[in-house]
Amino acid sequence: MKKNPIITCAALLLALTLTSCSTEQQKKPDETTVTTQTSENVQTTESVVTTQEIKEEMSTENSVPSISEDFTGDKILIGKRGSASVEIVDDDKAADGKALFISGRKEAWNGAEYKADLFRGNEIDVKGSFRSENASVRVTIQYNIQGNTSYNMIFAVNTKADKYTSGNGKYTIPANADNIIVYVESDTLNDIYVDNISVDVCGEYKYYEKALKTELVDTSDYPSLKEAYADLFRIGMAVSPTILGKPDYNALIKAQFNSITCENDMKPDAIIDIYKSKKDPDTYREAPAMKFDHLKTELNFAKENGMTVRGHTLVWHSQTPEGLFYVEYDKSGELADRELMLKRMENYIKGVMEWTTENYPGLISAWDVVNEAADDAGGMRQSLWYKTVGEDYIQKAFEFARKYAPEGAKLFYNDYNSFQKKKQEDILAFLKPIAEAGNIDGVGMQSHVGTWMNINEYANALQRYHDELGVEINITELDIGADKSDNWEEKQGKYFGDFMAKVIELRKSGVPITSLTLWGISDSLSWKASDRPLVFRDDLSRKPAFDAMIDAAKNN
Ligand code: XIL
Repeated sequence: MKKNPIITCAALLLALTLTSCSTEQQKKPDETTVTTQTSENVQTTESVVTTQEIKEEMSTENSVPSISEDFTGDKILIGKRGSASVEIVDDDKAADGKALFISGRKEAWNGAEYKADLFRGNEIDVKGSFRSENASVRVTIQYNIQGNTSYNMIFAVNTKADKYTSGNGKYTIPANADNIIVYVESDTLNDIYVDNISVDVCGEYKYYEKALKTELVDTSDYPSLKEAYADLFRIGMAVSPTILGKPDYNALIKAQFNSITCENDMKPDAIIDIYKSKKDPDTYREAPAMKFDHLKTELNFAKENGMTVRGHTLVWHSQTPEGLFYVEYDKSGELADRELMLKRMENYIKGVMEWTTENYPGLISAWDVVNEAADDAGGMRQSLWYKTVGEDYIQKAFEFARKYAPEGAKLFYNDYNSFQKKKQEDILAFLKPIAEAGNIDGVGMQSHVGTWMNINEYANALQRYHDELGVEINITELDIGADKSDNWEEKQGKYFGDFMAKVIELRKSGVPITSLTLWGISDSLSWKASDRPLVFRDDLSRKPAFDAMIDAAKNN
């Protein structure tokens, strides 16, 4: 590739130590998908160093990518974006006397950029110091999912010309994102000086790249989970098109599972076309623009292999474009009122139900109509759905879902930690009127847990949801994090066995548990990779947890 002669090149800093961003026990995705597209026709130009070159430099086994530039070295992993030029200059206002100078900007998005693919699937902590005359300098992340580009602001700082202002922000990059770029831009066309900028992984690094390159074992002689549980309930897993595109994974999934959930592709931010809606808010006023083509890989796979699909999810506070809640689909504008949001909710649910019923009749066995509406601190989560529609938004979502769902598709409420006493009370309280109206068929227990969880407490919750609401139960996103002991795999296996034995006991005693879904395929590809929470290792060899699941079905 052509190198920009203005830029000098130097040491890439590889940090083998981890930064100490806080990680909650239940690691949550970003609260909202903040989609701040800065320009309709963003074009990026070549960086000084390509992602490939960065990868080669970072190829050391088990190294954790970490980018840290103070512009004093001779190799800089940052390039120009758009028509801007970038150069290293002496700057006595900069801490080390050197800065990156960005000039010639013709549009707000012109600036400087990093290729950040190695951070895929990880939460990153980004820091930087900038000076620019009366501007709001932003650090933004861009990436593609299924050919759709999104632009999300990580942080912004109000800057002055004569001294540096620092800022920082964190962002969780989806595991299925490609062409990931972190860049500096601003709301003016003024020149920008960057004193330093860094990108670090929060918590333990998730080796998506490495896992996908691991040599895989032959899995063709494994006993089959779906066969072992055939008389009890369906066994499902969360898929992504990346995994389905790989023959060895594809074969294992077919052999083991008879239900799938799209890990990300059926979420509102994957279906709602927020840019199209925002471009023409009059046309889309009451019904956001929607796109579905990206769903075909996963839905065709299920259809061709006689599997059912859990539709996940319609109404959620997370992975939903924030613009949806604003009159003009623009989050700098006016928040939409109840009436408008009810129209949007109804039309969204209608659109999704109609497209899936028309194109894949009978394929979707269950819908997670509302996801995670209970607040960890008690009561209902103060989400934008709650704020715009009001506290009956859950009720309304189920009413609309019932109105448009085809015969046979079951309607679920889905949540995490919903076995905990307080959360259980809150959930039962808001679901009761919905059950009385006949608009809910099931409760989904996400079950992102660890070997710390009390299995009896969990079982009591399943029993109680069934007894008090008269609904069926799905275990929708099971992963069981291991502890850090030496024999963690065995301990986790034993726990999986005890857990399954209890679930089978409940099923046999009459609690209608109709499916159990594992949230992913192998440990490093899990959204909680560092907890090693699944039943296959990265090379697809079976962990004790897998054998324990098979044995539990045989022995209980
Ligand atoms: C997770 C996915 O696994 C990740 O790939 C994504 O980055 C964030 O969302 N509760 C849910 C799921 O209902 O949709 C979430 O899935 C995990 C928590």
